[in-house]
Amino acid sequence: MTNRGLLAGRRALVTGAARGIGLAIARAFHDEGAEVALSDIDGGAAVTAAADLGSRARGYALDVTDGGETERVFKEAAQWLGGLDLVAANAGISTMNAVRNLTEEEWDANMDVNAKGVFLTNREAVRHFLATGTEGVIVNTASLAAKIGAPFLAHYAASKFAVVGFTQSLAREVSACGIRVNAVCPGYVRTSMQEREIEWEGRLRDMAPAAVRDEYIAATPLGRLEEPDDVASIAVFLASDLSRFLTGESINASGGVLMD
Ligand SMILES: NC(=O)c1ccc[n+]([C@@H]2O[C@H](COP(=O)([O-])OP(=O)(O)OC[C@H]3O[C@@H](n4cnc5c(N)ncnc54)[C@H](O)[C@@H]3O)[C@@H](O)[C@H]2O)c1
Repeated sequence: MTNRGLLAGRRALVTGAARGIGLAIARAFHDEGAEVALSDIDGGAAVTAAADLGSRARGYALDVTDGGETERVFKEAAQWLGGLDLVAANAGISTMNAVRNLTEEEWDANMDVNAKGVFLTNREAVRHFLATGTEGVIVNTASLAAKIGAPFLAHYAASKFAVVGFTQSLAREVSACGIRVNAVCPGYVRTSMQEREIEWEGRLRDMAPAAVRDEYIAATPLGRLEEPDDVASIAVFLASDLSRFLTGESINASGGVLMD
């Protein structure tokens, strides 16, 4: 991606940043001039990813389902950065299962990371922004499944619909303080999550994984799988002043799979 300096001088924290979409967002923020704290439940991979980015990046171990740990890592990162202006709540998980076979553990795990994790990350971001008088920006990663349900993804969709409602509500709550809260809704993105989903869906629908992948491409008007960088571009837009008059939005970034 071209560096336009859109985030020069900004101090960012990204969750789920060791790989996939989170890493692409962290790299794009960094390329646009931000200093970035990359956090992930896989702390070792976050540290390695940060070292690859350079001296304006640092890695942290953070499980976003743990409120105490989230508070502690935000404090550590804000101390290193000398403040915090920008938070991307991206960490997420998925599983696929028919509702009749869905376990409580699967339901709880998806809700814990995807919905509660966004709540805890956004709460810490807003606490920091309010305490320091910062007109900060939050970008949440929702999903195609935050706007339209899909077979075998009822639990995941429920957790992602929650992100849209949370984003709208928080945006209204903090707008008077100059804090903006938006979400990005990716489509079929080529990451390790997608690799797992293609296998699961193939088994659930008795199809070859390659045929599932072909269906994802056929469902995408722009005619290819989405790349993590395609999502990161929209995250940069939402993080930067280019979107200064947007708040409470959940922007589709899906190559046309979703159009409203
Ligand atoms: N890949 C897609 O097609 C797609 C589509 C729509 C939305 N999304 C969303 O995008 C986000 C990133 O997905 P991805 O495809 O890059 O997935 P991925 O599995 O490739 O990467 C997710 C990262 O999140 C981390 N993570 C998992 N649980 C965590 C926790 N409790 N605390 C902190 N970090 C944790 C993982 O270690 C991993 O590094 C997720 O919120 C996902 O739901 C993905």
